[in-house]
Amino acid sequence: MARAVNPYITGPPLHPAQRFFGRQETLEWIIRGLRNPAVNSVVLFGQRRIGKTALLLQIQRTLSPDLFLPIYFDPQEHTTRPLGNVLADLSDVVSEALGVTIVEPGTFDDRGLFFGRTFLPQVYALIGKHRRLVFLFDEFEVLSPEEEDELPPSVAYHAFLRFIRRLMNTDNRPAFVFTAGRRVDDLALDFTARFKAAMVREVWTLERPATEMLIRQAEANGTLRFTDRAVERIIQLAGGHPYFAMLLCQQVWEQACAYTAPDSAPPQVTENEVEAALTATLAAGDAAMAWIWDGTSLAEKIYAAALAETVAEGEFVPEEHGFDVLDSHAARLRIRGINLAPRDLVRRRVLELPEEGFYGFAIDLFRRWIRQNHPLDEVKEELDRIDPLADELFG
Ligand SMILES: Nc1ncnc2c1ncn2[C@@H]1O[C@H](COP(=O)(O)OP(=O)(O)O)[C@@H](O)[C@H]1O
Ligand SMILES: [Mg+2]
Repeated sequence: MARAVNPYITGPPLHPAQRFFGRQETLEWIIRGLRNPAVNSVVLFGQRRIGKTALLLQIQRTLSPDLFLPIYFDPQEHTTRPLGNVLADLSDVVSEALGVTIVEPGTFDDRGLFFGRTFLPQVYALIGKHRRLVFLFDEFEVLSPEEEDELPPSVAYHAFLRFIRRLMNTDNRPAFVFTAGRRVDDLALDFTARFKAAMVREVWTLERPATEMLIRQAEANGTLRFTDRAVERIIQLAGGHPYFAMLLCQQVWEQACAYTAPDSAPPQVTENEVEAALTATLAAGDAAMAWIWDGTSLAEKIYAAALAETVAEGEFVPEEHGFDVLDSHAARLRIRGINLAPRDLVRRRVLELPEEGFYGFAIDLFRRWIRQNHPLDEVKEELDRIDPLADELFG
């Protein structure tokens, strides 16, 4: 018998064996929007690795082919090429979805004239009045302003953004679904202002039954058995975050199944096996967690580090608690803006506020990661590096 296969797959997102769980309500909301001719865009934003690409691909699979022609495209892969080349690639994807060759390559100009005036009308003629072209643009706006400045203005990133915006304003037939991985706080506003009619929604954790199904995948493929308490433990740690739950299960699976003989009964996973997989999970999740951490301000880092160091798993404490920790540690840690940090951390989904005034970590794995990688002392050193006068100013 072949070696058992780890069913927990964390990428690339197009992996054919990857299964999609949950988000039913969001999918229905999106599809209702796309069926409405007055809606031409949907924006899905959220943290890196929360499942935006997975959701976009699921929309593509779910849309009825009688009513829609969904086209998945990741402009990020084309950021440095001229617009004409990007549109030629996009048209290839459309042609492939339609199963016909519409135009010869090389006819696409860098102003998008051929694409808008010739190519799209041909597509509309082929799909008929009742079928809607839906562009699924993944990671629509991902470059930092500095990266953007480094690009010559003629390259696709600027040109593509501008072109799509113009297309949205002048052609009401296609619909657009965008995902964006930018920081949660400024994005919703930005997008709503830019794309007036956009439906905007944040992508966050999975619902409980979906999380449980994601975890129990290895039972479905006959390679593991979980006790109910083990499943509960994983949910406590990963909090419905599909990627972190997937990473934790991946490690549990590796540790439990690596040495099982083929044809032996599936090993049982208890809370102990989950606990034993924690260190490896934090290491595997390092890049995704560092991304969240790097997106926070210094005030947020200070407050989050203070909390991570002093609250227990699942514990919620009054806002003042974090400030008390700072005061007892070093008064200069109470930097300007620190009073806003708890709220900002909730907006970023680092903290949670289940009851007015009481804060705790949204995802316990992230609390552990901060405690391990960014203790308060280290954050204090960072503050001193940035602002050696802080001691005098605020101390
Ligand atoms: N709904 C879901 N069902 C199953 N796995 C998911 C789901 N959402 C995310 N994942 C897991 O999380 C990983 C990261 O998701 P991805 O869509 O690439 O995130 P993003 O595009 O937001 O960075 C996926 O490879 C997959 O393992
Ligand atoms: Mg993605």
